[in-house]
This record gives sequence, structure tokens and C-alpha cells, in this order.
Amino acid sequence: MSALTQHLPLLQRYPPQLEDNLQAWDSADEYLLQSLVPSQLDRSRPVLVLGDGFGALSCALSSFKLTSVTDSFVSRKAIEQNLERLGLPGVDIVPPQAPWPQEPQLVLAKIPKQLSLLEYWLAKLKPLLGPDTQVWFAGRDRDIPERAEALLGKYLGPTERLLGWKKARAFFSHSDGKAPLPMPAPLRWPLEGTAFTLTNHANVFSRQSLDIGARLMLANLPEGRFDRVIDLGCGNGVLALAMANRYPEAHYSLVDESYLAVASAEENMAHNLPQVDAHCLANDCLSGFPSVSADLVLCNPPFHQQQAVTDHVAWQMMKDAQRVLRPGGELWLVGNRHLGYHLKLKRLFGGCQVVASDRKFVILKAVKRRSK
Ligand SMILES: C[S@@+](CC[C@H](N)C(=O)[O-])C[C@H]1O[C@@H](n2cnc3c(N)ncnc32)[C@H](O)[C@@H]1O
Repeated sequence: MSALTQHLPLLQRYPPQLEDNLQAWDSADEYLLQSLVPSQLDRSRPVLVLGDGFGALSCALSSFKLTSVTDSFVSRKAIEQNLERLGLPGVDIVPPQAPWPQEPQLVLAKIPKQLSLLEYWLAKLKPLLGPDTQVWFAGRDRDIPERAEALLGKYLGPTERLLGWKKARAFFSHSDGKAPLPMPAPLRWPLEGTAFTLTNHANVFSRQSLDIGARLMLANLPEGRFDRVIDLGCGNGVLALAMANRYPEAHYSLVDESYLAVASAEENMAHNLPQVDAHCLANDCLSGFPSVSADLVLCNPPFHQQQAVTDHVAWQMMKDAQRVLRPGGELWLVGNRHLGYHLKLKRLFGGCQVVASDRKFVILKAVKRRSK
């Protein structure tokens, strides 16, 4: 192990209770780190890391002038937690929309699964490159989208494809001095059955069109008196938007772990329903939300995190909703039938009711019990 990779076995995933046997780095992180010669790096010049999952890259380079960019609040927590656990200096961890350093000496990037996010990284990166900036992108073979290599060439210019190693692949590039391509515009489309337009930044869930689970929820929205409503895992905010269209007097909290999703949700609420009291924030589920404070939680939960298929996020969302709802408050959850969410809701809420279903999806309603 080199000086840059020796910390890898000590890293932990976040949240910590997640399957402890899953390692918190992959062969693409190792590939990137092994490609560097630390003695050739200048401590006074910026280094940029893009898309670090749990801190493998940021921890290795924390003694440099490092900016680590991530679209994930959960990754941010993981990086912070690993830096602290290993007693390493803090680094500047920023969301994609924040300013990135000019003329970094080195860029280390993980190739994201979402091509829209890769395109965002590349369009923002190119104008910042100096004549001697080294740019490395890497990913595991199975995670690299088919068009990734073409996009690297399109935005950065000549890009060298390096030899595969431990089922990972790396690409090397530096500025060709040519004019950068413009940042692709967010996708915008009308929300069916309304006069609303939805803006979808890079990396947002179902950014090309309405998700089928969300569509089922829109056709079966809750009815009643709701003062405080939460859209948990809001994506572009479509569920809160539809609910707020019907109940504009309520207060809405829209929560997602993707900063670009939160930016989309913020724009969608402000543009389509500017009079509604809505607060959008990047967060891990409902951590930090006061208990017994909400009347309604709408949720279309994710079923994977950081490439791993898992229902631990959905479970955390249900637990958090149960805690945050006031007695009599309702959780409305839409999910694929085969995921068996009703069993989890039974454990947490004592039962649930099927509100609507189609061939693939089901909407479940669970009510928090009033204490006797
Ligand atoms: C299935 S999508 C639903 C998006 C939107 N509500 C819809 O119906 O189109 C699930 C969302 O949960 C978000 N998410 C994943 N893990 C999360 C976490 N730990 N905390 C908050 N949001 C999370 C994802 O970024 C994604 O936007």
C-alpha cells in the first residue's frame, strides 16, 4: 500500500449501521490514488476531487489545498466523518453549484452513473483547467455508463484510456486549450394535468419524465386538514407541488440528499407556486427534524444508494416519518409492489392501508397512533 492508500481499510461507510462488511472504497479509488506521485504535488496549489463516495480520495489528499465536490449530502457526511475519525485535517466539501477552484494542479474524479452529472462535471471543469492541470477520471467497469468516454472526449478534448485494473478503468486528460462547451441547460417539461413546468437539474431522479410511482400518487393525493407537510426524498419536488396546488395554506418541507434535486425542487416551488410557504433542504432522511411536528409525510423512497441496491434508506425514511409525525398524522408511501413495504409499516405503525394500486405500484397509508 502506498502513502495515499494506507487509510483505505480504515474508512467506514455512512450511515454507520449500514452493512459493516461493505467496504467504503472501490478499485477505481485505488486506481486513481496509485496513479499519483505525492512528491510531485505542490502543497500551495489547489486539488479538486469530484464525486468522492465515502472519503477515499478526500482523506488521501486532505493535507493538500483540497476542494471536494459532491452532489450527495450523505457522501458529505461520510467524508466528514472519516476525516474526523482518522484525525485528518478538514477539507472544503462543497455542492456542485458552489464555486470550484481555478487552475487546479490536479483533478481526481469518479465517473458518476448518471451521464447528466458527468456532463455537469465536465462542462464546469473545462473552463477552470490550467495549462498543466492533470485530469483523472475513473470508475468500476460495471458502473461506467456507455457514453462516458465519448463525453470525456467531447468536453475535455483528447483523453487517454488507460489499462484496466481490478475491473476498474481510468482516463487521463489535460487542457487542449480549446474553448469550453456551454453547460447543458436543465431539462424542463410540463407537468401533466397542470399548468406547471418542472425544471430538472443534472442528476435528478426521473429527470426526463414523470416517474410512474409519482404519477400514481398524483392521481390519489391525500385529503384532509394538513398544516405541516413533508415531501421526503423530494427529487424535483413534484409530490409537494401537486399537494400544495390543492392545499396552498399548508407549510411544506421538501427534503432530498441530492443538492441538485433540492435546487430543482426550490425552483419548481418558487416558479409554479410562489405564494406557498415552502422550505427545501439537503438532508439525510429527516435527521434533525423535530419529533411530533408534521401532519403528513409523502414519500416515494429510493431503493438504491451509492450503486448498492438496498432498502435501508426506505426503512430509515419510514422510521423517521414515524418519529416526526404527530399522533393521527399520516405517511403516504408509494413503492413497487414486490418491495413489501407493508411489512415494514406494520412493524412501525402497527398496520397500513392500501389506498391505490396498479399493476406495478402500490400506495400505502400508515397513521401514527394516538397515545391512549
Ligand atoms: C424514487 S426518488 C423520488 C423522487 C420524487 N419524490 C418523485 O416522486 O419523483 C427518491 C429520492 O430520494 C432521494 N434520497 C435518497 N437517499 C436519501 C436520503 N438518505 N435522504 C433524503 N433523500 C434521499 C433521492 O435522491 C431521490 O431523489
